[in-house]
Amino acid sequence: MNRRPRRNRQTEAIRNMVQETTLSTNDFIYPLFIIEGQNKRIEVSSMPGINRFSADTVLDEVAACVELGVKAFAPFPSIPEQYKDKYATESHNPEGLFPRVIREIKRNFPDVALVTDVAMDPYSSDGHDGIVENGEIINDETLEVLGKMALTQAQAGADIVAPSDMMDGRVGHIRRVLDENGFQKVAIMAYTAKYASAFYGPFRDALDSAPKAGDKKTYQMNYANSREALIEAELDTQEGADYLMVKPALSYLDVIKLLRENSHLPIAAYNVSGEYAMVKAAAQKGWLDGEKTMVETLTSIKRAGADIILSYFAKEFAQYLRK
Ligand code: PBG
Repeated sequence: MNRRPRRNRQTEAIRNMVQETTLSTNDFIYPLFIIEGQNKRIEVSSMPGINRFSADTVLDEVAACVELGVKAFAPFPSIPEQYKDKYATESHNPEGLFPRVIREIKRNFPDVALVTDVAMDPYSSDGHDGIVENGEIINDETLEVLGKMALTQAQAGADIVAPSDMMDGRVGHIRRVLDENGFQKVAIMAYTAKYASAFYGPFRDALDSAPKAGDKKTYQMNYANSREALIEAELDTQEGADYLMVKPALSYLDVIKLLRENSHLPIAAYNVSGEYAMVKAAAQKGWLDGEKTMVETLTSIKRAGADIILSYFAKEFAQYLRK
């Protein structure tokens, strides 16, 4: 044998030297769940270690993360039922919970990057990402709401708006609305290939945002498809997206790789709530080593081609790096 690949795996120093993929805290965006009230920090039962924060306690969480080197955040609001309606009106109320929290975070931490979700579901009495008319999600009318929502978030201080709704034409519409209002500098991170996935379950528990009827299959993608992701990527790019995202991450590593190979834009991957919950549940039962599984899964997402990882593990991973 003149080829022995094991020679490059012999010692830790050698393994580290030939390691192709490394993760740092710069790679992460940390999602944060926001609730009304004061001095609240309530754990999401299906996501051990992840809390829902009120506008005051979230500042402590951001401070702790910044201290660990995590500097990008994706806040998501949980909106009380009485503020929800068919048209998600609360999503563009400048005095609503979400814009208030964005302003507070930015005032206290002007250097962090805030990535804000644009979709109707947390504010919709139907629990859908678009307007429901006779059981259908109507596309073009929804764009009007998404534009107002994105503008409200930009006015509050968002650095990057992230449409996760999967309506056709949303990136172009949001870009136009932002530009017309002087927010040329606000970027768009498009949820480009967002699949209709069972892995969003714990997130919908956390925000109480599950659809009241039906599913999201007429707008989110069929998980059996990957060529369709290229169509979405092409459109988002033409419409002015600054980042492309794949979501979920772990069952979609091939899609991450496909977009990486077909685009020059930064590629983000969302390691979603159900992916986090699976690792945590198995670790709690003693069936998996939670820390090792965390590092392996996050590394695999980056190896597949993601430049940026949205993950509920971001803080824990930063703590692990510190050790
Ligand atoms: C809202 C939205 C969802 C997630 C992010 N933005 C839920 C959904 O589409 O039903 C899921 C994130 C996660 O599961 O961690 N459109």
